[in-house]
Amino acid sequence: THCILLGAPIDEGQRRPGCLMGPAAYRTAGLASTMSSLGHTVEDRGDVTPSPLGDETCTNNAVHHLPETIAWTSALREATQSAMADGMPIIMGGDHSLALGSVAGVAAYAASVNRPLFVIWLDAHSDFHTVESTTSGNLHGTPMAYANGRPGFDPFPPFPAPVPGENICMFGIRSVDPAEHAAMQESDIAVNDMRVLDEQGIVAPLRAFLDKVRAANGLLHVSLDVDFLDPSIAPAVGTTVPGGTTFREAHLVMELLHESQLVTSLDLVELNPFLDERGRTAKLMVDLVGSLMGRKVFDRPTRSY
Ligand code: ARG
Ligand code: MN
Ligand code: MN
Ligand code: MN
Repeated sequence: THCILLGAPIDEGQRRPGCLMGPAAYRTAGLASTMSSLGHTVEDRGDVTPSPLGDETCTNNAVHHLPETIAWTSALREATQSAMADGMPIIMGGDHSLALGSVAGVAAYAASVNRPLFVIWLDAHSDFHTVESTTSGNLHGTPMAYANGRPGFDPFPPFPAPVPGENICMFGIRSVDPAEHAAMQESDIAVNDMRVLDEQGIVAPLRAFLDKVRAANGLLHVSLDVDFLDPSIAPAVGTTVPGGTTFREAHLVMELLHESQLVTSLDLVELNPFLDERGRTAKLMVDLVGSLMGRKVFDRPTRSY
């Protein structure tokens, strides 16, 4: 695989400074060498620069840094769409608002090659607010709703090719606000909250979704939020929620994703290196990407999907 690193040092989607150091931390933790040691080629395109600031406004007074977020969205959309044509983009965040742009870029690319887009959202949160419904005003809580084509994003450019709910699968969910909950009840999104993982494990629901992606010849975008992981193993995140996935659960997801050979783009989001302990969260995230890109102890007989 030709891996294309895109830095997205974006902090404006939430209020705790530090996510803008994420791309530097991933580079320091050896993301590029991890991938080249697995036999991939790596091209680091550096950090994306936001587009010029507009003067967009909205009626929800809680919303924070709207023009800045829109400026990042358009720049990241372009950078991700063009990287899709050349290889597998890996967007190094930056808070989760970067996915407003990255998923838009992947969706525009998918439409241009006439293939359906599927999204796996690995997160404690559903990030299913709109600009109108968010009460915190932090736009990192909105990208999944934008990608799903929900109304309530008037100040943003229209999402290029909305991803239908049945093409979206979430894992690790354990913090959902009332407005998000109501909207998700109305959608076909597969919400595998922590209860599902406790009862069924992560393998069965993940394989079922991957089978769907394969049958549809889809592109598959994976968005990995640091808070998908339990805070005891991944402390470097502003929005810790107890009861997250374990080290092995997370690696197993990555190993199954690798085995599927279906993943075509990846976001790494919400790492706040200022909150880390001697780089352990950055290193864990890089190790997880290693598993996603093929690192394993022993080969397994290939499973047919
Ligand atoms: N639902 C909460 C909010 O809208 C938390 C969102 C957290 N999102 C994230 N990407 N960490 O403020
Ligand atoms: Mn501010
Ligand atoms: Mn998130
Ligand atoms: Mn989250």
